[in-house]
Amino acid sequence: MKEISPEIQFPSAYRKVIIYYFSGTGNARNVALWTAKVAGEKGMECRIINIAETDRLVIPKPDADALVVFISPVHGFNYPPVMLHFLMRFPKGKNRVLLMNTRAGMLIGKWITPGLSGITFYLAALILWLKGFSIGAMVPVDMPSNWISIHPGLNERTVKYLHERNRERVMAFAGKAFSGKSDFRALYEFIQDVLISPISFGYYFVGRFLFAKTFYASGDCNNCDLCIKGCPVKAIIKVDNRPFWTFNCESCMKCMGNCSKKAIETGHGFIIGFLMLFSSVIMVLFYRYFGLWFFPIENGILRFLIETVLMLSFLGLWYRLIHYLMRFRFFERLVVFSSLTRYKFWGRRYRALKAE
Ligand SMILES: Cc1cc2nc3c(=O)[nH]c(=O)nc-3n(C[C@H](O)[C@H](O)[C@H](O)COP(=O)(O)O)c2cc1C
Ligand code: SF4
Ligand code: SF4
Repeated sequence: MKEISPEIQFPSAYRKVIIYYFSGTGNARNVALWTAKVAGEKGMECRIINIAETDRLVIPKPDADALVVFISPVHGFNYPPVMLHFLMRFPKGKNRVLLMNTRAGMLIGKWITPGLSGITFYLAALILWLKGFSIGAMVPVDMPSNWISIHPGLNERTVKYLHERNRERVMAFAGKAFSGKSDFRALYEFIQDVLISPISFGYYFVGRFLFAKTFYASGDCNNCDLCIKGCPVKAIIKVDNRPFWTFNCESCMKCMGNCSKKAIETGHGFIIGFLMLFSSVIMVLFYRYFGLWFFPIENGILRFLIETVLMLSFLGLWYRLIHYLMRFRFFERLVVFSSLTRYKFWGRRYRALKAE
């Protein structure tokens, strides 16, 4: 194991640190563990809290003299709802806070391509600042991307390289931050973050519900219920004795990465079918029979709201129909073979390496 970087030699400005984290596939958990390791080396008292395993409705106030760290992945250019809601319920305080996120890192040669944070830090900082906290850092960490619903899974070499590099970077950062130094490196991306900010809102209000309904369990599922028990937001239920993804799913990818039968897939085929049917039939019928006289469709915002509600309602019904039809072998195969995650070139599942 490599020596911890020299930054750790800085004397600590704090006696205690509390690290709150949320993690789907383990990247944010690793960042939390590396940060805690540096705290331990500096002789600080350190608590790590996985917010998925804690009471998120009644959150105890952190000790007044503790440094507080929040770490979570970026989902749709923002912290995922579970983390945002946690921050909103977090008690008021005057502690110094470090904000970190894990993003979609990839590799071109030896260059780690950065992910995109969008409004992640600005929204979280605003929420905490309004509660009285002072923000001491905003640091993105480009860990291996886990979003295999939209891109092929990363190979082992890339995952290992990103893991190692980020371990060094996080520990170096933690060493400095614990000595009281500020670090706002996220601000270098301010202009790009502002430009993509509309997508963050689009993802929060619409996109995440769409993605929630892209997962399904194939015929390889043996009903072990691991995905149901392990989901951090309890978004999977049993319908017709098979896993069924509800709109509560945050697409954290944990279930997909953990299923020992590799039975969880992203249904690209049935989502394309849904989008085609929805835009070519449902919308046409809707406006043909109701739109022209019932709704002032020239009003853009109202039109968007109506179409979104219609789309999500129809998606819920469509997903239920697909789930029902998948009991028939022919249909199940059709859905499976139209899912990119089924294929070797795409579907490598992601689980973070163990933090050492
Ligand atoms: C639904 C979803 C949305 C994502 N959105 C973003 C994003 O907007 N920007 C980004 O850089 N990475 C994005 N990612 C990649 C993850 O943030 C990244 O892989 C992160 O390190 C995963 O952390 P975890 O293992 O702790 O869950 C997204 C991943 C998922 C599953
Ligand atoms: S973890 Fe996999 S095999 Fe187990 S119930 Fe979920 S989908 Fe089925
Ligand atoms: S259902 Fe799966 S992807 Fe969705 S939140 Fe739960 S573990 Fe994450």
